[in-house]
Amino acid sequence: MLSSNILNVLNRTTLNFKKKGLASPRLDAEVLLSDCLKTDRSGLYMNFERLIADEELAGFLSCVERRQKEEPVAYIVGRKEFWSLVFEVNSRVLVPRPETELLVEEVLKNCSDSGCRGINILEIGTGSGAISVAVASELKKAHIVATDISAEAVKMAGKNAEKNGVADRISFLCGNLFEPVSGEFDIIVSNPPYISAEEFEQLPLEVRDFEPKEALLAGPEGTEFHYKLITEGSRYLKCGGWLFMEMGAGQKDRVAGVLRENKAYDNIGFRADYAGIDRIAMARKTRGF
Ligand SMILES: C[S@@+](CC[C@H](N)C(=O)[O-])C[C@H]1O[C@@H](n2cnc3c(N)ncnc32)[C@H](O)[C@@H]1O
Repeated sequence: MLSSNILNVLNRTTLNFKKKGLASPRLDAEVLLSDCLKTDRSGLYMNFERLIADEELAGFLSCVERRQKEEPVAYIVGRKEFWSLVFEVNSRVLVPRPETELLVEEVLKNCSDSGCRGINILEIGTGSGAISVAVASELKKAHIVATDISAEAVKMAGKNAEKNGVADRISFLCGNLFEPVSGEFDIIVSNPPYISAEEFEQLPLEVRDFEPKEALLAGPEGTEFHYKLITEGSRYLKCGGWLFMEMGAGQKDRVAGVLRENKAYDNIGFRADYAGIDRIAMARKTRGF
């Protein structure tokens, strides 16, 4: 690519990404170029005529090459926005998804409904720390315990809590599900792995080949973790406490069935995402159970 101005480079890269079949070619080109030029997207729009130096272009082209191989933009630039906060990410953690903000919303709604003060929250499978950090940024009196089976994820989540100024209210633990946890909580929240073995093969390349398998795969039905969260989770919930879980398309009936069979829960409910997919399951631990 010849040395050129911002607009020309953007136009050529967009065309190139479009030919590759990437879903959002212009946006990807803008995010990568603004990162390489240490500006933001509006900084590009206001300087379309600015010439790009050879060293800047070389750095940008290596990012373009990675994106052409379908590596997620978030891994290339090393960060992702979630709940209007910035999270550092790498290939050891799932890129936080917009639909997971619904899970945060439901937790916050529950807390404001009951006027919670000094609330204790447990998150299982924290990844980049997105959910716990977002909740802690809103609930100044919450104390959160966040776990993950991946030590690298726990490290990254801790870093993100520091960067977002909430590290003093989140304890990060490494281990399998509830294994590192003790005590009872007002809320358990989780966006667990929920992709079945069959669905895994159909995933877009940028997810299947780049995001950590242990953040995605959840047994033959994709609901293995929901089952464990429901059955084991009730022991870690206070009576009247709530369980919130994200789930995938078509999983509502199975998750609802497991919740209904388990006498530890009542007030079972669901919330769909903006695409109409039932995305969040919630249930209360029966008072007096
Ligand atoms: C779908 S990702 C969610 C990450 C993050 N909470 C988010 O919403 O972006 C699931 C997370 O669960 C973790 N995980 C998988 N198996 C686990 C287990 N047995 N115990 C604890 N965490 C587990 C993965 O490492 C991954 O970080």
